[in-house]
Amino acid sequence: MKHWVAPSILAANFGNLQADVEMVNRSQADCLHVDIMDGRFVPNISFGFPVLKSLQQHSSKPLDVHLMIIEPEKYIQQFADLGASILTVHYETCTHLHRTIHQIKDFGMQAGVALNPHTPIGLLSAILHDIDLVCLMSVNPGFGGQKFIPYTYHKVRQLKALANEYQPNLRIEIDGGVNLENAPKLLKAGANVLVAGSSVFKSANPTQSILDLKNCF
Ligand code: DX5
Ligand code: ZN
Repeated sequence: MKHWVAPSILAANFGNLQADVEMVNRSQADCLHVDIMDGRFVPNISFGFPVLKSLQQHSSKPLDVHLMIIEPEKYIQQFADLGASILTVHYETCTHLHRTIHQIKDFGMQAGVALNPHTPIGLLSAILHDIDLVCLMSVNPGFGGQKFIPYTYHKVRQLKALANEYQPNLRIEIDGGVNLENAPKLLKAGANVLVAGSSVFKSANPTQSILDLKNCF
């Protein structure tokens, strides 16, 4: 399964989002990663529905929406209506994760579960066969531009082993501090979706940076 590259719009130029979305449209990116933060689950607020709506209008790539919000189950239909292809909720925010996952799927989206750096992989064993994607946070969620946590490699290997058992088609996404240096090692460990904010949008040539991540192995 060839890996995906998902540029994270959080690192784009919010003064001219359309230009950055169009750059992603023309690039080899597989989807557009969209971070929604509520100032409750994470100590930062990113943006909400009006911005997502305009991302949807301009993006030709599928939207990979990462919810860093409490009570995500309240907004599932709205995210479906705004064109999310993948909707990822945090394990740490869902008391009834099984129900939430199935609500996401019932609205026709792929369901993802994100884990904070301290959350053990084993907690997913009973739900893995219901999930399309697991997002392993390789930084503490809330901000772009943070340093990659190396223990993530170990978690990727653990998740890959669990996926072989319960969900061979699982997308294993890594989010936070991903760059050309750690990407090959992450792919080797079993990752197949690379989220990249700063290493794409803050680079001299974002289109080329996306291509470089795509050509990594
Ligand atoms: C962090 C977000 C990430 C972030 C990644 O909470 O979930 O998606 O945008 O940005 P970089 O690649 O700069 O760490
Ligand atoms: Zn994210």
